[in-house]
Amino acid sequence: MKSYSIALIPGDGIGSDVTAAAWTVLETAAKHAGFALAGTEFPWSCKFYKETGRMMPEDGIETLRGFDAILLGAVGWPAEVPDSVSLHGLLLPIRKAFVQYANIRPHRLLPGVTGPLRAENFDILCIRENTEGEYSGAGGRVHQGTLDEVAVETSIFTRAGVERILRFGFEQARTRRGKLASVTKSNAQKYSMVFWDEITRKLAAEYSDVAVTSYHVDALAARMIMAPESLDVVVASNLFGDILTDIGAAIQGGLGYAASANINPDRSAPSMFEPVHGSAPDIAHLGIANPIATIWSGAMMLDHLGEKAAADRVMKAVEATTARGIGTIPGKDRTEAITAAVVAALT
Ligand code: NAD
Ligand code: IPM
Ligand code: MN
Repeated sequence: MKSYSIALIPGDGIGSDVTAAAWTVLETAAKHAGFALAGTEFPWSCKFYKETGRMMPEDGIETLRGFDAILLGAVGWPAEVPDSVSLHGLLLPIRKAFVQYANIRPHRLLPGVTGPLRAENFDILCIRENTEGEYSGAGGRVHQGTLDEVAVETSIFTRAGVERILRFGFEQARTRRGKLASVTKSNAQKYSMVFWDEITRKLAAEYSDVAVTSYHVDALAARMIMAPESLDVVVASNLFGDILTDIGAAIQGGLGYAASANINPDRSAPSMFEPVHGSAPDIAHLGIANPIATIWSGAMMLDHLGEKAAADRVMKAVEATTARGIGTIPGKDRTEAITAAVVAALT
């Protein structure tokens, strides 16, 4: 029987609840489809940091490299470990080391879920650059603690980095409704963002079958709320994409529904699948975290592994669940009840 090796990193807070939920669903889907998922769990988290002084062992990246994919819950427990330490010790290094340069985040309403907007028929695929830009990590602080203190954090945009993410966006648009929104702030940021716009125009000539529009990020943020159905594929830099996808999550009913895939398109290293949301300290341990975002991310993982039929089946089960009003009202259904309903819909 075909078997895929999956590294499971539940992480912190609700991360463990939603990862366990998604794993139950994925294992059931695999059984039905006739393949196996071999999961290996890693306890890397803020708790692990408190015990060892590291978010993951020194050879953590090398350990993960051998897996077919990674399923991650959430990282961060700011009451005990600064976010700047925990995220730079676990999540962000994985995205960079494995060249997961395309962070794909779908935003649409599941049946039975009421979003905050009047618009219901939007289907947006946000593609966020995931390895450079504003998250490059280049910078420093001098004269720390004095009145002369200076903090510098430089965004880095490379031709290779910008071109590959835009190309990925154009290719995705081709498989969907043929529309691409390229997002910058080139009216204010006259080097990096003008560069991004130039590369967009250059590629547009190559992809003449795709209708591309360049938007400033502020206008695009408003458009996601005022006219989300006018958008198809949206490509943005790392930070802009981060912010826009929380708007995407909001218009699809909340962070409990927003899935994400950190893809290495060349398949030279494993890709990583995780919900958009974080560890939700405010509801951790209450058993009410919505697992749908992580289950959906798991479906994206199956698709990436080449198991499209199983991925589609998971999404159908999720949709059947929300259509019955289960998992559609925050806090009403417990994580376990939503998971059980999805599993039942699979069988
Ligand atoms: P968050 O996403 O954890 O929570 C924001 C709000 O959304 C909270 O009110 C939370 O209860 C709610 N929420 C989130 N997921 C939910 C779910 N599945 N079901 C129901 N409600 C849900 O964002 P935050 O509070 O800014 O961050 C908390 C911690 O998580 C921080 O340490 C942050 O750095 C980290 N974080 C990690 C990731 C990640 O690992 N990918 C993503 C975002 C934030
Ligand atoms: C996300 C998160 C992360 C990001 C944080 C936790 C570093 O917000 O995946 O959206 O900004 O990439
Ligand atoms: Mn985010």
